[in-house]
Amino acid sequence: MAENALITDPAKLAALAPVASAPIRHHVFVCTGKSCAAVDSADVKLAFEHELLVRGILFGKEKKGKNPRGTVIVTECASVGFCAIGPAVMVYPDGIWYAQVGKEDVPEIVEEHLLNGRVVERLALLKVPSEGKGAPLDESQRWEA
Ligand code: FES
Repeated sequence: MAENALITDPAKLAALAPVASAPIRHHVFVCTGKSCAAVDSADVKLAFEHELLVRGILFGKEKKGKNPRGTVIVTECASVGFCAIGPAVMVYPDGIWYAQVGKEDVPEIVEEHLLNGRVVERLALLKVPSEGKGAPLDESQRWEA
């Protein structure tokens, strides 16, 4: 079995993982777990990609119409426990977890949060790290995974 050698040459790392040298300011995770998918989280992810593409700040390959110097990266993720109140969207490094995000909410999150640093409070349910002092969960809010 071949052993993975740790790559330490910065130029080689940048070539292999261009994101490592991009000026990323925010990472947006959109949950595409089963429950969020059932309430159209794929449309929410597409809305983020569209909104960020239009503004020229979506990180990615130029040949895909994205910006290699973009400041926002969007990825999907598995369940984070907001299953009954999805779609869930997390914005890092701010640690803000949004719930019940619809595609119509995306321009506001991009404009207010990602560009102007103002959390969209009406959709924000959790800030990580949390002190865990919220109301106890009932059975319908249990973690899916
Ligand atoms: S499926 Fe999205 S939070 Fe559980």
